[in-house]
Amino acid sequence: MNENKVIPEHIAIIMDGNGRWAKQRGLPRTAGHKAGVEAIREVIENCSQRGIKYLTLYAFSTENWKRPQKEVSALMELLVFYLKREIESLHRNNVKIVTIGDMTKLPEKAQNEIKSATSKTCKNTGLNVAIAINYGGRQELVHAIKKISLEYEGRTEEIDESTVSSHLYTCGMPDPDLIIRPSGELRISNFLLWQMAYSEFWFSNVLWPDFNKDHLNEAIASYGERNRRYGGLDLKDRKVKK
Ligand code: IPE
Ligand code: IPE
Ligand code: MG
Repeated sequence: MNENKVIPEHIAIIMDGNGRWAKQRGLPRTAGHKAGVEAIREVIENCSQRGIKYLTLYAFSTENWKRPQKEVSALMELLVFYLKREIESLHRNNVKIVTIGDMTKLPEKAQNEIKSATSKTCKNTGLNVAIAINYGGRQELVHAIKKISLEYEGRTEEIDESTVSSHLYTCGMPDPDLIIRPSGELRISNFLLWQMAYSEFWFSNVLWPDFNKDHLNEAIASYGERNRRYGGLDLKDRKVKK
Protein backbone atom coordinates (compact mmCIF):
# COMPACT_ATOMS: atom_id res chain seq x y z
CA MET A 1 0.00 0.00 0.00
CA ASN A 2 1.28 3.45 -0.73
CA GLU A 3 0.30 6.88 0.48
CA ASN A 4 -1.02 8.08 -2.88
CA LYS A 5 -4.59 8.59 -3.96
CA VAL A 6 -6.04 5.35 -5.32
CA ILE A 7 -8.43 7.15 -7.64
CA PRO A 8 -6.88 9.70 -9.98
CA GLU A 9 -8.27 13.20 -9.73
CA HIS A 10 -7.49 13.93 -13.38
CA ILE A 11 -7.48 11.40 -16.23
CA ALA A 12 -6.37 12.41 -19.73
CA ILE A 13 -7.00 10.21 -22.76
CA ILE A 14 -5.44 10.21 -26.22
CA MET A 15 -8.41 8.90 -28.22
CA ASP A 16 -6.40 7.05 -30.88
CA GLY A 17 -7.01 4.12 -33.24
CA ASN A 18 -10.19 5.13 -35.07
CA GLY A 19 -8.61 4.74 -38.52
CA ARG A 20 -7.28 1.25 -37.81
CA TRP A 21 -10.60 0.20 -36.31
CA ALA A 22 -12.28 1.18 -39.60
CA LYS A 23 -9.59 -0.42 -41.74
CA GLN A 24 -10.00 -3.74 -39.93
CA ARG A 25 -13.65 -3.68 -41.00
CA GLY A 26 -13.05 -2.51 -44.56
CA LEU A 27 -14.76 0.80 -43.75
CA PRO A 28 -13.68 4.38 -44.54
CA ARG A 29 -11.68 6.16 -41.83
CA THR A 30 -14.62 8.47 -41.10
CA ALA A 31 -16.64 5.43 -39.98
CA GLY A 32 -13.91 4.87 -37.39
CA HIS A 33 -14.22 8.44 -36.20
CA LYS A 34 -18.00 8.02 -35.87
CA ALA A 35 -17.49 4.87 -33.82
CA GLY A 36 -14.91 6.74 -31.74
CA VAL A 37 -17.48 9.37 -30.82
CA GLU A 38 -19.77 6.63 -29.52
CA ALA A 39 -17.10 5.45 -27.09
CA ILE A 40 -16.98 8.80 -25.30
CA ARG A 41 -20.31 8.54 -23.49
CA GLU A 42 -19.44 5.43 -21.47
CA VAL A 43 -16.13 6.93 -20.38
CA ILE A 44 -17.73 10.20 -19.25
CA GLU A 45 -20.48 8.35 -17.38
CA ASN A 46 -18.01 6.11 -15.62
CA CYS A 47 -15.66 8.92 -14.69
CA SER A 48 -18.64 10.80 -13.23
CA GLN A 49 -19.80 7.76 -11.29
CA ARG A 50 -16.34 7.06 -9.92
CA GLY A 51 -15.94 10.60 -8.63
CA ILE A 52 -13.14 11.59 -10.98
CA LYS A 53 -12.99 15.38 -11.07
CA TYR A 54 -11.25 16.05 -14.40
CA LEU A 55 -11.25 14.24 -17.72
CA THR A 56 -9.27 15.58 -20.66
CA LEU A 57 -9.98 14.11 -24.11
CA TYR A 58 -7.51 14.62 -26.96
CA ALA A 59 -9.78 14.98 -30.00
CA PHE A 60 -7.73 16.88 -32.60
CA SER A 61 -4.07 17.87 -32.53
CA THR A 62 -2.31 20.82 -34.13
CA GLU A 63 -0.70 18.22 -36.41
CA ASN A 64 -4.00 16.61 -37.46
CA TRP A 65 -4.53 19.43 -40.02
CA LYS A 66 -2.01 17.50 -42.16
CA ARG A 67 -4.70 14.91 -42.90
CA PRO A 68 -6.75 15.02 -46.12
CA GLN A 69 -9.17 17.93 -46.14
CA LYS A 70 -12.14 15.55 -46.33
CA GLU A 71 -11.11 13.78 -43.14
CA VAL A 72 -10.50 17.07 -41.31
CA SER A 73 -13.95 18.34 -42.34
CA ALA A 74 -15.56 15.08 -41.24
CA LEU A 75 -13.88 15.41 -37.83
CA MET A 76 -15.11 19.00 -37.44
CA GLU A 77 -18.64 17.95 -38.46
CA LEU A 78 -18.51 15.14 -35.92
CA LEU A 79 -17.53 17.53 -33.17
CA VAL A 80 -20.59 19.65 -33.94
CA PHE A 81 -22.79 16.55 -34.15
CA TYR A 82 -21.47 15.22 -30.82
CA LEU A 83 -21.98 18.47 -28.92
CA LYS A 84 -25.45 19.04 -30.39
CA ARG A 85 -26.56 15.51 -29.53
CA GLU A 86 -24.98 15.14 -26.09
CA ILE A 87 -25.13 18.58 -24.54
CA GLU A 88 -28.55 18.19 -22.89
CA SER A 89 -27.63 14.94 -21.19
CA LEU A 90 -24.17 16.22 -20.20
CA HIS A 91 -25.81 19.26 -18.66
CA ARG A 92 -28.38 17.12 -16.83
CA ASN A 93 -25.51 15.10 -15.42
CA ASN A 94 -23.82 18.24 -14.08
CA VAL A 95 -20.84 17.90 -16.47
CA LYS A 96 -18.87 21.06 -17.19
CA ILE A 97 -17.40 21.29 -20.69
CA VAL A 98 -14.31 23.35 -21.50
CA THR A 99 -11.91 23.24 -24.43
CA ILE A 100 -8.14 23.50 -24.57
CA GLY A 101 -6.32 24.54 -27.74
CA ASP A 102 -6.64 27.34 -30.27
CA MET A 103 -10.33 27.49 -31.16
CA THR A 104 -9.89 30.50 -33.48
CA LYS A 105 -8.74 28.27 -36.35
CA LEU A 106 -11.84 26.06 -36.27
CA PRO A 107 -14.76 26.43 -38.68
CA GLU A 108 -17.31 28.95 -37.43
CA LYS A 109 -19.96 26.28 -36.93
CA ALA A 110 -17.67 24.37 -34.60
CA GLN A 111 -16.69 27.50 -32.70
CA ASN A 112 -20.34 28.42 -32.19
CA GLU A 113 -21.28 24.95 -30.96
CA ILE A 114 -18.34 25.00 -28.54
CA LYS A 115 -19.33 28.42 -27.23
CA SER A 116 -22.88 27.28 -26.63
CA ALA A 117 -21.79 24.03 -24.89
CA THR A 118 -19.25 25.76 -22.65
CA SER A 119 -21.55 28.61 -21.65
CA LYS A 120 -24.49 26.28 -21.02
CA THR A 121 -22.47 24.07 -18.66
CA CYS A 122 -20.18 26.70 -17.11
CA LYS A 123 -21.84 26.62 -13.69
CA ASN A 124 -21.95 22.84 -13.41
CA THR A 125 -20.07 21.31 -10.50
CA GLY A 126 -19.69 17.64 -11.48
CA LEU A 127 -17.09 16.13 -13.80
CA ASN A 128 -14.97 18.70 -15.65
CA VAL A 129 -14.47 17.55 -19.24
CA ALA A 130 -11.77 19.37 -21.21
CA ILE A 131 -11.84 18.61 -24.93
CA ALA A 132 -8.47 19.19 -26.58
CA ILE A 133 -9.14 20.51 -30.09
CA ASN A 134 -6.49 22.05 -32.31
CA TYR A 135 -4.33 21.40 -29.27
CA GLY A 136 -0.58 20.86 -29.25
CA GLY A 137 1.66 20.93 -26.20
CA ARG A 138 4.33 22.93 -28.02
CA GLN A 139 1.82 25.38 -29.45
CA GLU A 140 0.39 25.81 -25.93
CA LEU A 141 3.85 26.62 -24.56
CA VAL A 142 4.57 29.13 -27.33
CA HIS A 143 1.20 30.76 -26.62
CA ALA A 144 2.03 30.92 -22.90
CA ILE A 145 5.54 32.33 -23.50
CA LYS A 146 4.09 35.11 -25.65
CA LYS A 147 1.54 36.04 -22.99
CA ILE A 148 4.11 35.91 -20.19
CA SER A 149 6.66 38.03 -22.04
CA LEU A 150 4.07 40.72 -22.72
CA GLU A 151 2.82 40.68 -19.15
CA TYR A 152 6.19 40.58 -17.36
CA GLU A 153 8.11 42.95 -19.69
CA GLY A 154 11.50 41.49 -18.81
CA ARG A 155 10.92 41.01 -15.05
CA THR A 156 12.20 37.47 -15.45
CA GLU A 157 13.00 37.01 -11.74
CA GLU A 158 9.25 37.04 -11.04
CA ILE A 159 8.59 34.10 -13.37
CA ASP A 160 8.36 30.65 -11.82
CA GLU A 161 6.69 27.30 -12.54
CA SER A 162 3.32 28.50 -11.34
CA THR A 163 3.53 31.44 -13.80
CA VAL A 164 3.94 28.98 -16.66
CA SER A 165 1.15 26.67 -15.42
CA SER A 166 -1.27 29.54 -15.06
CA HIS A 167 -0.68 30.73 -18.63
CA LEU A 168 -1.45 27.37 -20.21
CA TYR A 169 -4.88 26.44 -21.60
CA THR A 170 -5.22 24.12 -18.59
CA CYS A 171 -4.96 27.02 -16.10
CA GLY A 172 -6.86 26.09 -12.93
CA MET A 173 -6.83 22.35 -13.65
CA PRO A 174 -4.60 19.97 -11.71
CA ASP A 175 -1.95 18.14 -13.75
CA PRO A 176 -3.13 14.78 -15.11
CA ASP A 177 -2.55 11.93 -12.66
CA LEU A 178 -3.13 9.28 -15.29
CA ILE A 179 -2.67 9.48 -19.06
CA ILE A 180 -4.29 6.72 -21.10
CA ARG A 181 -3.30 5.94 -24.69
CA PRO A 182 -5.09 3.15 -26.48
CA SER A 183 -4.24 1.94 -30.03
CA GLY A 184 -0.85 0.40 -29.32
CA GLU A 185 1.22 3.53 -29.99
CA LEU A 186 3.77 4.20 -27.28
CA ARG A 187 4.13 7.94 -27.67
CA ILE A 188 2.70 11.23 -26.49
CA SER A 189 2.02 12.97 -29.81
CA ASN A 190 2.38 16.48 -28.42
CA PHE A 191 -0.17 16.08 -25.61
CA LEU A 192 0.10 17.99 -22.29
CA LEU A 193 3.89 18.26 -22.46
CA TRP A 194 4.33 20.54 -19.45
CA GLN A 195 1.51 19.03 -17.38
CA MET A 196 2.67 15.41 -17.63
CA ALA A 197 5.89 15.91 -15.66
CA TYR A 198 4.81 13.37 -13.01
CA SER A 199 1.83 11.69 -14.69
CA GLU A 200 1.39 7.93 -14.66
CA PHE A 201 0.83 6.23 -18.03
CA TRP A 202 -1.39 3.39 -19.17
CA PHE A 203 -0.96 2.07 -22.69
CA SER A 204 -3.13 -0.55 -24.34
CA ASN A 205 -3.57 -2.16 -27.75
CA VAL A 206 -7.33 -1.64 -27.66
CA LEU A 207 -8.48 0.73 -30.42
CA TRP A 208 -10.39 3.78 -29.18
CA PRO A 209 -13.82 2.81 -30.63
CA ASP A 210 -13.59 -0.43 -28.61
CA PHE A 211 -12.52 1.31 -25.39
CA ASN A 212 -15.09 0.76 -22.64
CA LYS A 213 -15.56 0.91 -18.88
CA ASP A 214 -13.59 -2.31 -18.37
CA HIS A 215 -10.50 -0.72 -19.93
CA LEU A 216 -11.06 2.39 -17.85
CA ASN A 217 -11.33 0.30 -14.71
CA GLU A 218 -8.19 -1.61 -15.65
CA ALA A 219 -6.28 1.64 -16.12
CA ILE A 220 -7.53 3.06 -12.82
CA ALA A 221 -6.69 -0.19 -11.00
CA SER A 222 -3.20 -0.11 -12.47
CA TYR A 223 -2.86 3.51 -11.35
CA GLY A 224 -3.88 2.48 -7.84
CA GLU A 225 -0.89 0.13 -7.70
CA ARG A 226 1.64 2.78 -8.67
CA ASN A 227 4.04 4.31 -6.26
CA ARG A 228 4.36 8.00 -7.04
CA ARG A 229 7.49 9.42 -5.49
CA TYR A 230 7.87 12.75 -7.33
CA GLY A 231 11.62 12.38 -7.02
CA GLY A 232 11.44 11.80 -3.26
CA LEU A 233 11.39 8.57 -1.29
CA ASP A 234 8.68 6.13 -0.23
CA LEU A 235 7.07 6.96 3.09
CA LYS A 236 8.43 3.72 4.56
CA ASP A 237 11.96 4.52 3.37
CA ARG A 238 11.75 7.99 4.83
CA LYS A 239 11.32 6.70 8.40
CA VAL A 240 14.43 7.20 10.47
CA LYS A 241 15.66 3.84 11.80
CA LYS A 242 16.01 3.77 15.58
C1 IPE B 1 -7.69 9.20 -33.62
O1 IPE B 1 -7.71 8.14 -34.50
C2 IPE B 1 -8.51 10.37 -34.09
C3 IPE B 1 -7.73 11.55 -34.40
C4 IPE B 1 -6.43 11.65 -34.37
C5 IPE B 1 -8.44 12.74 -34.78
P1 IPE B 1 -6.78 8.07 -35.78
O2 IPE B 1 -7.50 8.67 -36.93
O3 IPE B 1 -5.44 8.66 -35.50
O4 IPE B 1 -6.66 6.51 -35.96
P2 IPE B 1 -5.40 5.69 -36.46
O5 IPE B 1 -4.25 6.07 -35.59
O6 IPE B 1 -5.18 6.08 -37.90
O7 IPE B 1 -5.80 4.27 -36.29
C1 IPE C 1 -2.93 11.80 -31.46
O1 IPE C 1 -3.16 10.81 -32.38
C2 IPE C 1 -3.96 12.88 -31.57
C3 IPE C 1 -5.31 12.50 -31.21
C4 IPE C 1 -5.73 11.34 -30.80
C5 IPE C 1 -6.28 13.56 -31.29
P1 IPE C 1 -2.44 10.81 -33.81
O2 IPE C 1 -2.94 9.62 -34.53
O3 IPE C 1 -2.60 12.11 -34.47
O4 IPE C 1 -0.91 10.63 -33.41
P2 IPE C 1 0.30 10.01 -34.21
O5 IPE C 1 0.33 10.66 -35.58
O6 IPE C 1 0.07 8.55 -34.30
O7 IPE C 1 1.50 10.33 -33.38
MG1 MG D 1 -3.73 7.86 -34.80
